[in-house]
Amino acid sequence: MFITFEGIDGSGKSTHAGLLAEWLRARGHRVELLREPGATPLAEAIRQILLDATLRIDPVAELMLFCAARRQLVEDVIRPALAQGQVVISDRYADSTVAYQGYGRGLDLEMVERIIGYAIGSVVPHVTFVLDVDVATALQRRGVRQSRTTDRMEDAPEAFFERVRRGYLAIAAREPERVVVLDGIQSVEMIHSRVCAVVLERLRQIHRGALT
Ligand code: ADP
Ligand code: TYD
Repeated sequence: MFITFEGIDGSGKSTHAGLLAEWLRARGHRVELLREPGATPLAEAIRQILLDATLRIDPVAELMLFCAARRQLVEDVIRPALAQGQVVISDRYADSTVAYQGYGRGLDLEMVERIIGYAIGSVVPHVTFVLDVDVATALQRRGVRQSRTTDRMEDAPEAFFERVRRGYLAIAAREPERVVVLDGIQSVEMIHSRVCAVVLERLRQIHRGALT
C-alpha cells in the first residue's frame, strides 16, 4: 500500500507520516518511510540544488528537477518496496508538484501533469492525506520548528502559499476517492486517529481485493 502526506510547508506532514509509520510497524507491517525530494543519493543531491537559496531556478527547470528526483525514487525504492508487500509512506509526492509548480508557480497544469505522469507511470498513491492549514498558522509553526534560515522554496511570498493551498483543495475536489482532506488545525492526536481509521479501512479494501 502506498500512502502520501501533502500540504503547505509547516502543515504537519512529517509529524503524521512518522506517527503513521510507528503505528503500522507496531501492528507488524513493514514500512518504508520516505520524504520528497530525497531518499536516494541522486534525489538528495537534487534536493540540495532545489533548496539552495543562492540559486535562481527557472520554473520549468524546477518542475523537471522535482520530477527527476521522483523518478529515481520510484524506480529505486517505491516500486521495489511495493512489490515486496511493504507499506510505503511518503512525506510529499506528485501532488506537491501539481500544487507548487502548477498552482503556485502558475505553470500549465496539463504540461505539469504530463511530465509527472511520465516520471511516475502507474505508481499512484492508494490514499493521500492533505493537511489543510491556513498560511499564517503554517508560517508560525515553521518559525517554532526552525532556528535555521528559510530555504529557496520557503522564501516565496505568502500569496504563493495561498495558491498552493487552493491547489491542494482543487486536487482533492477532483479526486475524492484518493485524496482525504484533514483539518490540520486540530490536535495531533485527533488527526492521527482519523489517519489511522482511513488507513485501516483502505487496508481492508485491499485485502478484499477492492483495490489493487
Ligand atoms: P511539515 O512536515 O508539514 O513541514 P511538521 O510535521 O514538521 O510539518 O510540523 C511543523 C511544526 O508544527 C512542528 O513543530 C510540529 O510539532 C507542529 N505541529 C504539527 N502538527 C500540529 C498540530 N496538529 N497542532 C499543533 N502543532 C503541530
Ligand atoms: P521540505 O523541507 O522537504 O518541505 P517541508 O518544509 O514541507 O517539510 O522542502 C521541500 C520544498 O520543496 C517545500 O517547500 C515544497 C517544495 N516542493 C515543490 O515545490 N514541488 C515538489 O514536487 C516537491 C516534492 C516539493
